[in-house]
Amino acid sequence: MQYFFLLLLFMEVFSTSSSASCEKGCNCHEALKLTTCANAFLTQLPTHVPPYTEHLDLSTNLLSFLPRSSFQMERKLRALLLNNNNISDVADGAFTQLEVLQKLDLSRNRLLSLREGFTLGLSALKDLQLSHNLLHTLDSRSFMRLDSLERLNLTGNAIHTIQIRAFGFMSTLRQLHLGDNRLVSLNNGVFSMLRSLEVLNLRGNQISKTEMGVFTPLTSLALLNLAQNRMRTIYFKTFLSIHTYSTHILLEGNPWNCDCDLQRVFHKLRSVHRLFLDDYYNLSCNAPAELENCRLMDVDTQLCIAETVTVLVITITVVITVLAAIVMAERKRKKRKKNSRKHWTEQSNMSEDSDQ
Ligand SMILES: *[C@@H]1O[C@H](CO)[C@@H](O)[C@H](O)[C@H]1NC(C)=O
Ligand SMILES: *[C@@H]1O[C@H](CO)[C@@H](O)[C@H](O)[C@H]1NC(C)=O
Ligand SMILES: *[C@@H]1O[C@H](CO)[C@@H](O)[C@H](O)[C@H]1NC(C)=O
Repeated sequence: MQYFFLLLLFMEVFSTSSSASCEKGCNCHEALKLTTCANAFLTQLPTHVPPYTEHLDLSTNLLSFLPRSSFQMERKLRALLLNNNNISDVADGAFTQLEVLQKLDLSRNRLLSLREGFTLGLSALKDLQLSHNLLHTLDSRSFMRLDSLERLNLTGNAIHTIQIRAFGFMSTLRQLHLGDNRLVSLNNGVFSMLRSLEVLNLRGNQISKTEMGVFTPLTSLALLNLAQNRMRTIYFKTFLSIHTYSTHILLEGNPWNCDCDLQRVFHKLRSVHRLFLDDYYNLSCNAPAELENCRLMDVDTQLCIAETVTVLVITITVVITVLAAIVMAERKRKKRKKNSRKHWTEQSNMSEDSDQ
């Protein structure tokens, strides 16, 4: 890092040609195709950015609004950093001329919602950073036209609702970061088109309910992070329906209700070869009260004892009943036999008597 800055300084001193066309508050480096205007107290976009610029850094300024065609003179941009500003509104078509833009960083701003036209022209974009804004709802038009997007970072917003098909146009997406939001449930269909998705990060939400088929469309999923949510129990089928070669699942920090059902689900899940419960050894119980803060792993052999005892009692009762019935039947049979023999002896005695 230090060497990088030294290099920049060095180039600053020797690149007279580029500094001539460089705006106050910015540093322009033709050889690196780089213009940085970070930390410059800018409240407006710079009016002149050298045309060779491929990497434009406008981070940590006081920008609050991006008007339509904000970057029409900077068509070569591949990376545009607008993080750490005060942006609350992005006009439709703000990025419309940026046909080769691959990375757009809008994290740490004040965006409450995304307009439908916000994505106009961003068909080459691969990495969209929107973490730490104020987004609360993703609807089916939020991310249209992002035909090349591979990484979407929405960490640290206030998202509580994701409409069906909000990610419907993102068949190239490989990473979706939704950590530290306010999701409470995951309904079937929200991830329906994400067949290339490898990483789904849902850590730090309030998810207590996941519909059984919600992960089924994710046929490339390698990591599913559900740690630090509100799940008390899970269903075997929810995870069994993930049809991949191998998927790692993180579940720690949930308030598990440690009962026999939960133990059975985990037992079955751990025997599925393609699923890896990496933090199983860190899962701890929240209920019942007497198991609070116990590790699930330490108590899992006890959880089904009551059930096992019940089953044993029932089995023993049945066995005893059956045995008793057999014994009784046997006794009856013997008695009947004895009786009949007695009867027969008496009869033969009687006949002997009569013979005499
Ligand atoms: C940030 O934007 C808000 C309006 O969205 C404004 O009230 C506030 O003064 C701005 N802050 C700075 C530091 O410019
Ligand atoms: C997503 O954003 C968070 C917060 O800004 C950051 O810490 C994290 O590294 C980002 N992740 C990716 C993969 O971009
Ligand atoms: C388990 O928890 C410990 C302590 O919090 C942590 O260091 C470790 O990385 C966790 N293991 C996994 C697999 O998450």
